[in-house]
Amino acid sequence: MCGIVGYVGADTALPVLTTGLENLEYRGYDSAGVALADGDVEVYKTAGEVDALEATLPETAEAHRGVGHTRWSTHGPPTDTNAHPHTDCTGEVAVVHNGIIDNYDALRRDLVAEGHDFESDTDTEVVPHLIESYLEDGLAPQAAIEETVARLEGSFALVVTIAGVPELFAIRRDSPLVLGHGVEATYLASDVTAFLEHTREVTYLPDDHLAVLDGAETTVYHDGQPVALDRETLEWEADAAEKGGYEHYMRKEIHEQPQALRQTISGRIDVDAGTVELGLDLSEEYLRSLEEIQIVAAGTSNYAGRYAAKLLEELADVRTTVSIASEYAFTGGRDPWRTLVIAVTQSGETADTLSAVRDAKRAGARTIAVTNTLGSTVTREVEESLFIRAGPEIGVAATKTFASQVTTLALLAVAIGREREALSTDRAVDVLEAIRSVPGAVQQVLDREPQVIEVATRHADADAFFFIGRALGEPVALEGALKLKEISYDHAEGFAAGELKHGPLALVTDQTPVLAILTPGSRPEETLRNVKEVGAREAPVIGATTRPDDARYLQERLDVPDVDVLSPMVTNVYWQLFAYHVADAKGRPIDKPRNLAKSVTVE
Ligand code: G6P
Repeated sequence: MCGIVGYVGADTALPVLTTGLENLEYRGYDSAGVALADGDVEVYKTAGEVDALEATLPETAEAHRGVGHTRWSTHGPPTDTNAHPHTDCTGEVAVVHNGIIDNYDALRRDLVAEGHDFESDTDTEVVPHLIESYLEDGLAPQAAIEETVARLEGSFALVVTIAGVPELFAIRRDSPLVLGHGVEATYLASDVTAFLEHTREVTYLPDDHLAVLDGAETTVYHDGQPVALDRETLEWEADAAEKGGYEHYMRKEIHEQPQALRQTISGRIDVDAGTVELGLDLSEEYLRSLEEIQIVAAGTSNYAGRYAAKLLEELADVRTTVSIASEYAFTGGRDPWRTLVIAVTQSGETADTLSAVRDAKRAGARTIAVTNTLGSTVTREVEESLFIRAGPEIGVAATKTFASQVTTLALLAVAIGREREALSTDRAVDVLEAIRSVPGAVQQVLDREPQVIEVATRHADADAFFFIGRALGEPVALEGALKLKEISYDHAEGFAAGELKHGPLALVTDQTPVLAILTPGSRPEETLRNVKEVGAREAPVIGATTRPDDARYLQERLDVPDVDVLSPMVTNVYWQLFAYHVADAKGRPIDKPRNLAKSVTVE
């Protein structure tokens, strides 16, 4: 998830690009660059923040056309070379990209065989080289770009500038791009924040549409034919715009989950074959000899780890324990070499988790990290890193990173299960089909937000909230309660549903809503018994279920799409929305709850 800004118009491009990049930087990027086109194409790029880029730029530049990019790394670490724009062999075609090109490996091999030289580790670099080869074949620039895009698989927003060609070209698939219409100028960006100070007249570019920008003249093509698109006038305040129109980053990030999950999965699964490719260097022999997996993590990542442990046991048939990172110690009695320690950490900087990893390494265990942050400390400590690709998360309460962690770990469970021959092809195909449909399932839950707003507002003044679930629903109950207490400051607790009757039931009254998970993977029949127990004590029960008949035991039924073992994870999106709207009804500072920090770098 990178930031893109582009400009063609009567003014010089450079100031528009630099302020655009500054406006996008709130998303927390790791490298940046611009291409200025005025006859030739000149590229400036560097690792680090936009400030670092600005130090390398000329004070003024004549070019009236250009693109800028801030990068959130997915392929290759944040270095000068991996920063965008990327160019072809001649340096005449410059491209910026947001998204992931799934088939870049094969394209790159073909291009190298044809004699193209590559400089970076990125998937993006295939694009300028493909355009170059079509231009060499004699195609016009627009046709060369269309032919190139026809060969790409994956998700992308691409902006292309070519030396000697006055227009700027932009095309997207599954990654946002918006055009801004100014006086004698057209702007474009991945997020309107980039140009809102110049214009509020915008056109959202649909998938597989190519925009050709020539000053104030912009033509959009679909399947080679020009099409007319509606313009909209935005009425956002600057601050809201920064959050993509949402009042808080947390709500924006909740709604980004379908896109984040598509990125998590992209290029990693072959559903028909029932296989997963994660690029980890763990041999079949090693995985077969594994005696135990130990997951170490803190906070929300710990709950993602608890979810994953159940999947690893079920799908990969390997004993898996989960430790709160600050409680971890590699105890004796196990063969360290046959123990794989997985650190789950969004930031890659949590001190407790780093300390657990060091302890495991000292004992001789193998270590891998599941993280969102390329170049973070944990990636330097472990042998192998697996990236969840959720994009930057700003709100202190983790939301989209939980979904991407669980999904990444589910992929890992399938991969290890296949290697250990613990998972049949048929079952692997089922699970991967479910994983593939998770982004759509999450979107269906998000579409029901009005129902959640109504329920959350109705219960906002409750005495306490209890979340219950079994099996894969148990860590989701714990995470649901954590989210609510973090941002609303209400008393909330999560329980294994069966444990309720052994104590917590004493707390249940008609003033304590109980939120229950009744989905595949969470033993719904048994949980329903506990729902009846609390219902008999007149507690209002809010049930997330795939089964319409459960409605008679529930005060409120929230419908969950059936996505096999990922159904409880999808249910968590309801709990995120519920927590958000209870906190919002109380006017809490949702993105920065009192006493908490996004990344805790002390033990
Ligand atoms: C802090 C954050 C939590 C997060 C935890 C672990 O406590 O407030 O939201 O879950 O750290 O963070 P990590 O970056 O290791 O996933």
